[in-house]
Amino acid sequence: MNILMRSAAVAAITIGFAGGALAQTEVKIGYALAPASHYGVAAEKWQEAVEAATEGRYMFRHFPSSGLGGEREVVEGVQIGTIEATIVSSGTLSNFVPDTGVFDIPFLFRDLAHARGVLDGPIGQEILEKFDDVGLVALAWGEQGFRHITNNRGVIDEPGDMAGLKLRTMENPVHITAFQTLGAAPTPMAWPEVIGALQQGVIDGQENPLSVITSANLAEVQKYLTLSGHVYSPAVLLVSRQLWDGMSDADKDAFREGAAEAVTAMRGFIDEVESSGIERLRAQGMEIGELSAEARTAFQEALAAAYEQYYASYDRALIEQIIAAE
Ligand code: PAF
Repeated sequence: MNILMRSAAVAAITIGFAGGALAQTEVKIGYALAPASHYGVAAEKWQEAVEAATEGRYMFRHFPSSGLGGEREVVEGVQIGTIEATIVSSGTLSNFVPDTGVFDIPFLFRDLAHARGVLDGPIGQEILEKFDDVGLVALAWGEQGFRHITNNRGVIDEPGDMAGLKLRTMENPVHITAFQTLGAAPTPMAWPEVIGALQQGVIDGQENPLSVITSANLAEVQKYLTLSGHVYSPAVLLVSRQLWDGMSDADKDAFREGAAEAVTAMRGFIDEVESSGIERLRAQGMEIGELSAEARTAFQEALAAAYEQYYASYDRALIEQIIAAE
């Protein structure tokens, strides 16, 4: 636990006012990106909905931009109850709930509609329930969009261009396997270290969706963007078991419904950035390429050995069911 997190790590403050007129519970919500990102917009919407439905009995306190540490630390904080809520990528999730890793398999989803359908349907909802087993309450799947590769070496046209590329990945075994198989030099790293590592040239590049590339101003430290869309990037809205178990059923509904509204806002943000982000990044000086249909097929073929590992770790029938979902 880092110092910031420790200083923030106090139990939810319940403030009773004289006469018992109002008791407010503080909900510390941590997320990795700026308030103007898809996470910030979703956290704001979640707050508004919960505050309206509970007449202000829950007071959200935001810790954006990794203010409570990296995503792994924040999920651990939610797990032990020192942080009440987070919106977090799938980066370290499979270390907590291994089954979530199935959604991190490259080229699994065709497009956003396909991913949203699976996550909102029985497969996604069943995996959300598995968070209960590790002391976390997962209320909804959100998203970041499809991940693309940025670097300072050049635009990527074919799998061979990945050779030796020092690419920061999330601390995510499924992603690490993919980039190792492609011949890159994957460097797993917590997000708060990434900008500094890019500035110092410790790594050549990183991969993230347009939502992150724009909101974290990666154009300032990366010259080339390749629209690879190599993997969908889910996010999840979590609350701590300690907070949850102290709530009335009505308050639980307020959090659940607020999470659904937050996801709608987040997806709206993603839709917008998917259509306007590329032009914005080009205007900021990035040189942008896109994998051709042939190159995408070549990447999928180059990942054959990685898929064998995924089939050994995850139920192959489930993977095929996800791919076939309409
Ligand atoms: O790359 C990551 O670690 C994640 O996508 C990020 C930027 C922390 C957002 O969740």
